[in-house]
Amino acid sequence: RVKKSWICKCSAKPSADKTAYKTKVSRNENMGKLQAGYLFPEIKRRRAAHMLKFPDAQVISLGIGDITEPIPEVIASAMAKRSKSLATIKGYSGYGAEQGEKLLRATIASTFYANLGIGEHDVFISDGAKNDISRLQVLFGSDVTVAVQDPSYPAYVDSGVIMGQTGRYQNNVGYGNIEYMKCSPDNDFFPDLSSVSRADVIFFCSPNNPTGSAASRNQLTQLVQFAKDNGSIIIYDSAYALYMSDDSPKSIFEIPGAKEVAIEISSFSKYAGFTGVRLGWTVVPKELQFSDGFPVAKDFNRIVCTCFNGASNIAQAGGLACLSPEGLEAMQEVIGFYKENTHIIIETFKSLGFNVYGGKNAPYVWVHFPGQNSWDLFEEILEKTHVVTIPGSGFGPGGEGFIRVSAFGHRANVLEACKRFKELYK
Ligand code: MLT
Repeated sequence: RVKKSWICKCSAKPSADKTAYKTKVSRNENMGKLQAGYLFPEIKRRRAAHMLKFPDAQVISLGIGDITEPIPEVIASAMAKRSKSLATIKGYSGYGAEQGEKLLRATIASTFYANLGIGEHDVFISDGAKNDISRLQVLFGSDVTVAVQDPSYPAYVDSGVIMGQTGRYQNNVGYGNIEYMKCSPDNDFFPDLSSVSRADVIFFCSPNNPTGSAASRNQLTQLVQFAKDNGSIIIYDSAYALYMSDDSPKSIFEIPGAKEVAIEISSFSKYAGFTGVRLGWTVVPKELQFSDGFPVAKDFNRIVCTCFNGASNIAQAGGLACLSPEGLEAMQEVIGFYKENTHIIIETFKSLGFNVYGGKNAPYVWVHFPGQNSWDLFEEILEKTHVVTIPGSGFGPGGEGFIRVSAFGHRANVLEACKRFKELYK
Protein backbone atom coordinates (compact mmCIF):
# COMPACT_ATOMS: atom_id res chain seq x y z
CA ARG A 1 0.00 0.00 0.00
CA VAL A 2 1.23 3.46 -0.82
CA LYS A 3 1.05 5.97 1.95
CA LYS A 4 0.19 9.36 0.45
CA SER A 5 2.51 11.12 2.88
CA TRP A 6 5.53 9.40 1.26
CA ILE A 7 5.07 11.38 -1.89
CA CYS A 8 7.13 14.37 -0.83
CA LYS A 9 8.45 16.42 -3.68
CA CYS A 10 11.67 18.10 -2.65
CA SER A 11 12.57 20.24 -5.58
CA ALA A 12 14.81 23.25 -5.93
CA LYS A 13 12.48 24.62 -8.62
CA PRO A 14 9.55 26.89 -7.66
CA SER A 15 6.27 25.05 -7.40
CA ALA A 16 3.81 25.50 -10.24
CA ASP A 17 1.11 26.54 -7.73
CA LYS A 18 0.79 30.32 -7.80
CA THR A 19 -0.45 32.12 -4.73
CA ALA A 20 -1.66 35.68 -4.93
CA TYR A 21 0.33 36.98 -1.97
CA LYS A 22 4.13 37.18 -1.76
CA THR A 23 6.14 38.23 1.28
CA LYS A 24 8.99 40.73 0.96
CA VAL A 25 11.54 38.17 2.15
CA SER A 26 14.10 37.23 -0.46
CA ARG A 27 14.93 33.60 -0.88
CA ASN A 28 18.32 32.42 0.37
CA GLU A 29 20.03 32.39 -3.01
CA ASN A 30 22.10 29.37 -2.01
CA MET A 31 18.94 27.27 -1.85
CA GLY A 32 18.45 28.02 -5.52
CA LYS A 33 21.86 26.52 -6.31
CA LEU A 34 20.86 23.08 -5.00
CA GLN A 35 20.23 20.46 -7.64
CA ALA A 36 16.78 18.87 -7.32
CA GLY A 37 15.84 17.35 -3.98
CA TYR A 38 18.13 15.80 -1.40
CA LEU A 39 19.08 12.37 -2.75
CA PHE A 40 17.22 10.06 -0.36
CA PRO A 41 13.80 11.80 -0.40
CA GLU A 42 14.14 11.90 -4.20
CA ILE A 43 14.62 8.11 -4.20
CA LYS A 44 11.58 7.77 -1.92
CA ARG A 45 9.56 9.92 -4.28
CA ARG A 46 10.51 7.75 -7.27
CA ARG A 47 9.76 4.60 -5.31
CA ALA A 48 6.31 5.93 -4.41
CA ALA A 49 5.65 6.86 -8.05
CA HIS A 50 6.71 3.34 -9.05
CA MET A 51 4.33 1.83 -6.52
CA LEU A 52 1.48 3.88 -7.93
CA LYS A 53 2.36 2.61 -11.40
CA PHE A 54 2.72 -1.01 -10.25
CA PRO A 55 0.35 -1.32 -7.27
CA ASP A 56 0.71 -5.11 -7.12
CA ALA A 57 4.51 -5.20 -7.31
CA GLN A 58 6.51 -6.46 -4.35
CA VAL A 59 8.93 -3.57 -4.14
CA ILE A 60 12.18 -4.28 -2.27
CA SER A 61 14.29 -1.40 -0.99
CA LEU A 62 18.05 -1.78 -1.08
CA GLY A 63 18.32 1.95 -1.53
CA ILE A 64 18.73 4.21 1.49
CA GLY A 65 20.84 2.51 4.13
CA ASP A 66 18.06 2.10 6.64
CA ILE A 67 18.16 -0.59 9.28
CA THR A 68 15.59 -3.39 9.01
CA GLU A 69 16.42 -5.70 11.92
CA PRO A 70 15.10 -4.98 15.43
CA ILE A 71 17.10 -3.21 18.11
CA PRO A 72 18.71 -5.85 20.38
CA GLU A 73 16.65 -6.57 23.47
CA VAL A 74 19.36 -5.55 25.94
CA ILE A 75 19.47 -2.09 24.35
CA ALA A 76 15.73 -1.63 23.87
CA SER A 77 15.01 -2.63 27.46
CA ALA A 78 17.51 -0.07 28.80
CA MET A 79 15.60 2.61 26.90
CA ALA A 80 12.27 1.26 28.19
CA LYS A 81 13.62 1.38 31.74
CA ARG A 82 14.78 4.98 31.35
CA SER A 83 11.49 5.89 29.77
CA LYS A 84 9.53 4.36 32.68
CA SER A 85 11.66 6.13 35.23
CA LEU A 86 10.67 9.45 33.64
CA ALA A 87 7.20 8.77 35.07
CA THR A 88 8.57 8.92 38.62
CA ILE A 89 9.56 11.90 40.77
CA LYS A 90 12.94 10.39 41.43
CA GLY A 91 13.69 9.33 37.88
CA TYR A 92 12.40 12.35 36.01
CA SER A 93 14.90 14.55 34.21
CA GLY A 94 14.34 17.52 31.92
CA TYR A 95 17.01 19.29 29.90
CA GLY A 96 20.32 17.51 30.09
CA ALA A 97 23.78 18.80 29.29
CA GLU A 98 23.92 20.01 25.68
CA GLN A 99 27.17 18.07 25.24
CA GLY A 100 25.58 14.82 26.46
CA GLU A 101 25.62 12.79 29.64
CA LYS A 102 28.99 12.55 31.34
CA LEU A 103 28.93 8.77 31.66
CA LEU A 104 28.08 8.23 27.99
CA ARG A 105 30.80 10.66 26.88
CA ALA A 106 33.34 8.89 29.06
CA THR A 107 32.22 5.43 27.91
CA ILE A 108 32.45 6.39 24.22
CA ALA A 109 35.96 7.72 24.86
CA SER A 110 37.06 4.53 26.62
CA THR A 111 35.32 2.14 24.19
CA PHE A 112 36.25 3.62 20.83
CA TYR A 113 39.31 5.74 21.63
CA ALA A 114 41.16 3.84 24.38
CA ASN A 115 44.84 4.80 24.40
CA LEU A 116 44.31 7.38 21.66
CA GLY A 117 44.38 10.38 23.98
CA ILE A 118 40.68 11.19 23.56
CA GLY A 119 38.91 11.98 26.83
CA GLU A 120 35.34 12.51 27.96
CA HIS A 121 35.50 16.27 27.31
CA ASP A 122 36.50 15.78 23.69
CA VAL A 123 33.29 13.82 22.99
CA PHE A 124 30.02 15.63 22.17
CA ILE A 125 26.88 13.49 22.05
CA SER A 126 24.58 14.27 19.12
CA ASP A 127 21.26 13.22 17.67
CA GLY A 128 23.08 11.68 14.73
CA ALA A 129 26.09 12.30 12.52
CA LYS A 130 24.09 14.06 9.80
CA ASN A 131 22.89 16.72 12.23
CA ASP A 132 26.41 17.37 13.43
CA ILE A 133 27.59 17.73 9.83
CA SER A 134 25.25 20.73 9.58
CA ARG A 135 26.31 22.06 12.98
CA LEU A 136 29.94 21.81 11.88
CA GLN A 137 29.09 23.74 8.72
CA VAL A 138 27.60 26.47 10.92
CA LEU A 139 30.80 26.41 12.96
CA PHE A 140 33.01 26.93 9.91
CA GLY A 141 30.72 29.41 8.17
CA SER A 142 30.44 30.37 4.54
CA ASP A 143 33.99 31.55 3.86
CA VAL A 144 35.80 28.22 4.07
CA THR A 145 36.80 26.12 1.09
CA VAL A 146 35.81 22.47 1.18
CA ALA A 147 37.11 19.22 -0.34
CA VAL A 148 35.12 15.99 -0.53
CA GLN A 149 35.77 12.49 -1.76
CA ASP A 150 33.99 12.04 -5.06
CA PRO A 151 31.66 10.17 -4.71
CA SER A 152 30.61 10.94 -1.13
CA TYR A 153 27.66 11.13 1.25
CA PRO A 154 25.57 14.00 -0.17
CA ALA A 155 25.02 15.84 3.13
CA TYR A 156 28.60 17.19 3.10
CA VAL A 157 28.15 18.98 -0.21
CA ASP A 158 24.50 20.00 0.13
CA SER A 159 25.02 21.55 3.59
CA GLY A 160 28.01 23.45 2.19
CA VAL A 161 25.91 24.74 -0.71
CA ILE A 162 23.24 25.95 1.71
CA MET A 163 25.92 27.70 3.78
CA GLY A 164 27.10 29.57 0.70
CA GLN A 165 30.52 27.92 0.45
CA THR A 166 30.07 27.00 -3.21
CA GLY A 167 29.46 28.40 -6.62
CA ARG A 168 26.80 27.26 -9.06
CA TYR A 169 26.33 23.68 -10.25
CA GLN A 170 27.71 22.53 -13.56
CA ASN A 171 26.54 19.28 -15.11
CA ASN A 172 28.97 16.38 -14.70
CA VAL A 173 31.41 18.68 -12.88
CA GLY A 174 29.65 19.56 -9.63
CA TYR A 175 29.47 22.80 -7.64
CA GLY A 176 31.99 25.56 -8.17
CA ASN A 177 34.53 26.09 -5.40
CA ILE A 178 34.35 22.51 -4.11
CA GLU A 179 37.41 20.35 -4.50
CA TYR A 180 36.14 16.97 -5.69
CA MET A 181 38.77 14.35 -4.81
CA LYS A 182 38.17 11.62 -7.33
CA CYS A 183 37.94 8.12 -5.84
CA SER A 184 37.59 5.34 -8.37
CA PRO A 185 38.84 1.80 -8.99
CA ASP A 186 41.79 3.40 -10.81
CA ASN A 187 43.18 4.89 -7.60
CA ASP A 188 41.87 2.19 -5.27
CA PHE A 189 39.25 4.71 -4.08
CA PHE A 190 41.87 6.89 -2.39
CA PRO A 191 42.47 10.34 -3.89
CA ASP A 192 45.73 11.27 -5.52
CA LEU A 193 46.62 13.94 -2.97
CA SER A 194 49.41 15.32 -5.16
CA SER A 195 46.73 16.66 -7.51
CA VAL A 196 44.30 17.89 -4.85
CA SER A 197 44.15 21.65 -4.26
CA ARG A 198 44.31 22.98 -0.73
CA ALA A 199 40.96 23.29 1.06
CA ASP A 200 40.22 24.53 4.58
CA VAL A 201 37.96 21.61 5.42
CA ILE A 202 38.30 18.07 4.05
CA PHE A 203 35.35 15.72 4.48
CA PHE A 204 36.58 12.15 4.50
CA CYS A 205 34.44 9.07 5.16
CA SER A 206 36.02 5.67 5.84
CA PRO A 207 34.72 3.05 5.29
CA ASN A 208 33.32 5.19 2.56
CA ASN A 209 29.69 5.69 1.78
CA PRO A 210 28.91 4.91 -1.05
CA THR A 211 31.96 3.02 -2.38
CA GLY A 212 32.36 0.81 0.69
CA SER A 213 36.14 1.10 0.59
CA ALA A 214 38.20 1.71 3.73
CA ALA A 215 41.38 3.76 3.73
CA SER A 216 44.47 1.91 4.97
CA ARG A 217 46.73 3.13 7.77
CA ASN A 218 49.27 4.26 5.21
CA GLN A 219 46.66 6.18 3.23
CA LEU A 220 45.27 7.88 6.34
CA THR A 221 48.81 8.79 7.39
CA GLN A 222 49.18 10.51 4.00
CA LEU A 223 45.86 12.29 4.53
CA VAL A 224 46.85 13.57 7.97
CA GLN A 225 50.20 14.75 6.60
CA PHE A 226 48.40 16.47 3.70
CA ALA A 227 46.12 18.28 6.17
CA LYS A 228 49.14 19.30 8.27
CA ASP A 229 51.09 20.57 5.27
CA ASN A 230 48.11 22.65 4.18
CA GLY A 231 46.81 23.71 7.59
CA SER A 232 43.45 22.05 6.83
CA ILE A 233 40.91 20.40 9.13
CA ILE A 234 39.66 16.90 8.31
CA ILE A 235 36.07 16.04 9.21
CA TYR A 236 36.35 12.27 9.41
CA ASP A 237 33.11 10.28 9.21
CA SER A 238 33.50 6.86 10.84
CA ALA A 239 29.80 5.92 10.94
CA TYR A 240 30.54 2.48 9.42
CA ALA A 241 33.80 1.70 11.26
CA LEU A 242 32.47 -1.40 13.04
CA TYR A 243 31.71 -2.99 9.67
CA MET A 244 35.41 -3.22 8.95
CA SER A 245 36.75 -6.74 8.33
CA ASP A 246 40.39 -5.85 7.76
CA ASP A 247 42.77 -4.00 10.04
CA SER A 248 42.31 -0.54 8.51
CA PRO A 249 42.03 2.11 11.25
CA LYS A 250 38.59 2.46 12.80
CA SER A 251 39.31 6.02 13.88
CA ILE A 252 41.39 8.83 12.37
CA PHE A 253 42.89 9.30 15.83
CA GLU A 254 44.80 6.04 15.38
CA ILE A 255 47.06 8.12 13.12
CA PRO A 256 49.76 10.01 15.05
CA GLY A 257 49.24 13.77 14.89
CA ALA A 258 45.58 13.53 13.81
CA LYS A 259 44.33 15.24 16.96
CA GLU A 260 45.85 18.51 15.69
CA VAL A 261 44.03 18.35 12.35
CA ALA A 262 40.87 16.26 12.68
CA ILE A 263 37.35 16.06 14.00
CA GLU A 264 35.55 12.70 13.95
CA ILE A 265 31.80 12.19 13.59
CA SER A 266 30.09 8.88 14.23
CA SER A 267 26.76 7.31 15.00
CA PHE A 268 24.90 4.44 16.63
CA SER A 269 22.48 4.31 13.66
CA LYS A 270 24.09 1.53 11.68
CA TYR A 271 25.36 -0.46 14.67
CA ALA A 272 22.33 -0.71 16.89
CA GLY A 273 19.40 0.09 14.63
CA PHE A 274 19.22 3.70 15.87
CA THR A 275 18.21 5.32 12.56
CA GLY A 276 14.90 6.17 14.23
CA VAL A 277 16.15 6.53 17.82
CA ARG A 278 18.80 9.12 16.75
CA LEU A 279 22.11 9.09 18.60
CA GLY A 280 25.66 9.84 17.53
CA TRP A 281 28.77 11.65 18.64
CA THR A 282 31.45 14.04 17.49
CA VAL A 283 35.00 14.15 18.78
CA VAL A 284 36.68 17.55 18.74
CA PRO A 285 40.11 17.14 20.33
CA LYS A 286 41.38 19.91 22.58
CA GLU A 287 44.58 19.99 20.48
CA LEU A 288 42.72 21.25 17.38
CA GLN A 289 43.10 25.01 16.89
CA PHE A 290 42.09 27.70 14.44
CA SER A 291 44.77 29.81 12.77
CA ASP A 292 44.61 32.32 15.65
CA GLY A 293 45.21 29.59 18.22
CA PHE A 294 41.60 29.51 19.45
CA PRO A 295 40.48 25.94 20.33
CA VAL A 296 37.95 24.60 17.81
CA ALA A 297 36.24 22.62 20.59
CA LYS A 298 35.34 25.84 22.44
CA ASP A 299 33.56 27.23 19.41
CA PHE A 300 31.90 23.89 18.71
CA ASN A 301 30.69 23.83 22.29
CA ARG A 302 29.21 27.32 21.74
CA ILE A 303 27.44 26.12 18.57
CA VAL A 304 26.09 23.04 20.32
CA CYS A 305 24.77 25.12 23.24
CA THR A 306 23.10 27.52 20.80
CA CYS A 307 21.68 25.10 18.23
CA PHE A 308 20.93 21.99 20.26
CA ASN A 309 19.39 21.05 23.60
CA GLY A 310 21.19 17.74 23.92
CA ALA A 311 20.28 14.26 22.71
CA SER A 312 17.18 12.54 24.08
CA ASN A 313 17.81 11.13 27.55
CA ILE A 314 16.09 7.87 26.52
CA ALA A 315 18.35 7.53 23.47
CA GLN A 316 21.40 8.16 25.65
CA ALA A 317 20.35 5.33 27.99
CA GLY A 318 20.22 3.17 24.86
CA GLY A 319 23.68 4.37 23.84
CA LEU A 320 25.10 3.39 27.19
CA ALA A 321 23.51 -0.06 26.90
CA CYS A 322 25.08 -0.42 23.44
CA LEU A 323 28.49 -0.07 25.07
CA SER A 324 27.92 -2.64 27.83
CA PRO A 325 29.59 -6.02 27.17
CA GLU A 326 26.20 -7.54 26.23
CA GLY A 327 25.34 -4.53 24.07
CA LEU A 328 28.64 -4.67 22.19
CA GLU A 329 28.11 -8.36 21.54
CA ALA A 330 24.54 -7.79 20.37
CA MET A 331 25.67 -5.01 18.00
CA GLN A 332 28.32 -7.29 16.53
CA GLU A 333 25.61 -9.87 15.84
CA VAL A 334 23.46 -7.35 14.00
CA ILE A 335 26.47 -6.16 12.02
CA GLY A 336 27.38 -9.78 11.24
CA PHE A 337 23.88 -10.35 9.86
CA TYR A 338 24.18 -7.42 7.45
CA LYS A 339 27.67 -8.52 6.46
CA GLU A 340 26.20 -11.86 5.36
CA ASN A 341 23.71 -9.92 3.24
CA THR A 342 26.61 -8.00 1.74
CA HIS A 343 28.31 -11.24 0.83
CA ILE A 344 25.15 -12.52 -0.93
CA ILE A 345 24.90 -9.30 -2.97
CA ILE A 346 28.58 -9.30 -3.90
CA GLU A 347 28.49 -12.92 -5.04
CA THR A 348 25.35 -12.28 -7.09
CA PHE A 349 26.86 -9.41 -9.09
CA LYS A 350 30.20 -11.17 -9.43
CA SER A 351 28.49 -14.27 -10.81
CA LEU A 352 26.86 -12.02 -13.40
CA GLY A 353 30.27 -10.77 -14.51
CA PHE A 354 30.17 -7.30 -12.97
CA ASN A 355 33.08 -5.55 -11.32
CA VAL A 356 31.98 -5.12 -7.74
CA TYR A 357 33.61 -2.95 -5.08
CA GLY A 358 33.09 -2.31 -1.39
CA GLY A 359 31.15 -4.67 0.79
CA LYS A 360 34.11 -6.13 2.65
CA ASN A 361 34.40 -3.22 5.08
CA ALA A 362 30.97 -1.63 4.72
CA PRO A 363 27.30 -2.50 4.27
CA TYR A 364 27.30 -1.05 0.74
CA VAL A 365 28.12 -2.76 -2.54
CA TRP A 366 29.30 -0.54 -5.39
CA VAL A 367 28.58 -2.10 -8.77
CA HIS A 368 30.21 -0.84 -11.96
CA PHE A 369 28.23 -0.41 -15.18
CA PRO A 370 30.92 1.29 -17.31
CA GLY A 371 29.67 3.99 -19.65
CA GLN A 372 26.07 3.85 -18.44
CA ASN A 373 24.04 6.65 -16.88
CA SER A 374 23.32 5.82 -13.24
CA TRP A 375 19.85 7.38 -13.09
CA ASP A 376 18.85 5.42 -16.22
CA LEU A 377 20.22 2.26 -14.59
CA PHE A 378 18.35 3.00 -11.38
CA GLU A 379 15.11 3.44 -13.36
CA GLU A 380 15.71 0.30 -15.41
CA ILE A 381 16.41 -1.84 -12.35
CA LEU A 382 13.35 -0.46 -10.57
CA GLU A 383 11.09 -0.89 -13.59
CA LYS A 384 12.22 -4.43 -14.37
CA THR A 385 12.92 -5.91 -10.92
CA HIS A 386 10.99 -3.63 -8.54
CA VAL A 387 14.18 -3.29 -6.49
CA VAL A 388 15.20 0.16 -5.28
CA THR A 389 18.94 0.92 -5.46
CA ILE A 390 20.77 4.25 -5.47
CA PRO A 391 22.28 5.78 -8.62
CA GLY A 392 25.98 6.39 -8.13
CA SER A 393 25.88 9.91 -9.56
CA GLY A 394 23.61 10.92 -6.67
CA PHE A 395 26.81 10.87 -4.60
CA GLY A 396 28.72 13.16 -6.95
CA PRO A 397 30.00 13.22 -10.52
CA GLY A 398 32.54 10.49 -9.69
CA GLY A 399 29.68 8.05 -9.03
CA GLU A 400 28.47 8.10 -12.62
CA GLY A 401 28.32 4.59 -14.09
CA PHE A 402 27.81 2.94 -10.68
CA ILE A 403 24.88 1.71 -8.62
CA ARG A 404 24.97 1.41 -4.83
CA VAL A 405 23.20 -1.61 -3.39
CA SER A 406 22.57 -1.52 0.34
CA ALA A 407 22.86 -4.66 2.47
CA PHE A 408 20.31 -3.38 4.95
CA GLY A 409 17.34 -5.66 4.36
CA HIS A 410 15.55 -8.71 5.68
CA ARG A 411 17.35 -11.84 4.46
CA ALA A 412 14.35 -13.04 2.43
CA ASN A 413 14.19 -9.69 0.63
CA VAL A 414 17.91 -9.67 -0.14
CA LEU A 415 17.68 -13.21 -1.55
CA GLU A 416 14.62 -12.30 -3.62
CA ALA A 417 16.28 -9.12 -4.90
CA CYS A 418 19.36 -11.10 -5.91
CA LYS A 419 17.17 -13.63 -7.72
CA ARG A 420 15.61 -10.78 -9.67
CA PHE A 421 19.04 -9.26 -10.48
CA LYS A 422 20.06 -12.66 -11.84
CA GLU A 423 16.98 -12.82 -14.04
CA LEU A 424 17.60 -9.28 -15.34
CA TYR A 425 21.29 -9.66 -16.12
CA LYS A 426 21.63 -13.37 -16.95
C1 MLT B 1 22.70 6.21 3.20
O1 MLT B 1 21.86 5.49 2.68
O2 MLT B 1 23.67 6.64 2.61
C2 MLT B 1 22.54 6.63 4.61
O3 MLT B 1 22.01 5.65 5.33
C3 MLT B 1 21.66 7.79 4.74
C4 MLT B 1 21.95 8.48 6.01
O4 MLT B 1 22.64 7.96 6.88
O5 MLT B 1 21.50 9.62 6.13
